[in-house]
Amino acid sequence: MRRFLLCGSNGLLGQRLALMLGGETEYEVLNTSHHRSFVFDHHLFDYTQLDLTRASDVKSLVSSFQPDVIINAAGATNVDWCEDHREEAWAINVTGVEHLVEASRKVGATLIHVSTDYIFDGKTGNYREDDRPNPQNYYGKTKLAGENAIRIAGIDYAIVRTVVLYGTGYRVKRNFALWVLDNLKSGMSIRCVDDQISCPTYVTDLALGILKIAELEKTGIFHITGSEAVSRYEFAVRIARAFNLDAGLIHRVKTSDLPQRAVRPMNTTMITVKAQTELGLKTSNIEQGLALLKQELQSAGKN
Ligand SMILES: NC(=O)c1ccc[n+]([C@@H]2O[C@H](COP(=O)([O-])OP(=O)(O)OC[C@H]3O[C@@H](n4cnc5c(N)ncnc54)[C@H](OP(=O)(O)O)[C@@H]3O)[C@@H](O)[C@H]2O)c1
Repeated sequence: MRRFLLCGSNGLLGQRLALMLGGETEYEVLNTSHHRSFVFDHHLFDYTQLDLTRASDVKSLVSSFQPDVIINAAGATNVDWCEDHREEAWAINVTGVEHLVEASRKVGATLIHVSTDYIFDGKTGNYREDDRPNPQNYYGKTKLAGENAIRIAGIDYAIVRTVVLYGTGYRVKRNFALWVLDNLKSGMSIRCVDDQISCPTYVTDLALGILKIAELEKTGIFHITGSEAVSRYEFAVRIARAFNLDAGLIHRVKTSDLPQRAVRPMNTTMITVKAQTELGLKTSNIEQGLALLKQELQSAGKN
């Protein structure tokens, strides 16, 4: 039976992975995250608290569990917070990853790590896996340093870069889609930029891609994103339409109009042909992803 150690299982992606891995009878899974307790019922899932910044904890947990695969869905993911909390951001996104690399090496595990479009400068868009990174903000720099720590380590690895994740879960950080929904439902107007272009990614598609990588034992870098490129403004309007909310509350602005702490790359669309061909992965377009989100919110009684 293959043993999976999941890190960051309380996050948006982590929860989805925990649910999907939990349904695989031929895998033994240990979920871990920074918080003392797991968001899901502890009778149904194995869970242990694990702070990736603590080298000795990572080392001892990995040597006792002896995973074949470690999936790292943990991270400091708030881009503006990272700009102002550089030491903490580095500790989680780089030092924590270095701890996983060392632990993976010791037990011969494959490390599957999640990274971001923000390692690119956003000047051209349509990035391929081997395009040159050039991060524009501190979050992007930490994520690139985390990738590099893995790439030079000589271990088996896969790095999955994704973009603007959306979906729902228990006590998850508010992602862009949930932020738009919360505001429009309460009649608040919002400002969304029409000059940042990306391919929003429904969280289940990303989780499926990661599980395919594990199942097919693929290594290397993979770009996994939604199949449609839009601006944040366009995405917000599409959300309003899908949920029958008032798109008139959405005001189109430019990035320079917003007081964001961290610099944003403008166009981070990514080429995903490798994931399509090597993993057989077909990701949702915006209409499909939002329909799935709507179903999920309805069954959770949140819509
Ligand atoms: N969200 C996006 O739009 C986006 C876009 C591109 C790439 N990504 C990448 O995708 C991955 C998953 O993102 P996400 O949105 O699912 O993240 P998320 O919801 O913010 O969850 C991240 C999780 O990391 C855990 N964590 C934080 N510090 C930790 C530590 N020191 N040790 C162990 N766990 C720690 C937290 O656990 P607790 O809750 O237990 O404290 C949290 O649940 C990240 O690598 C991110 O960089 C995300």
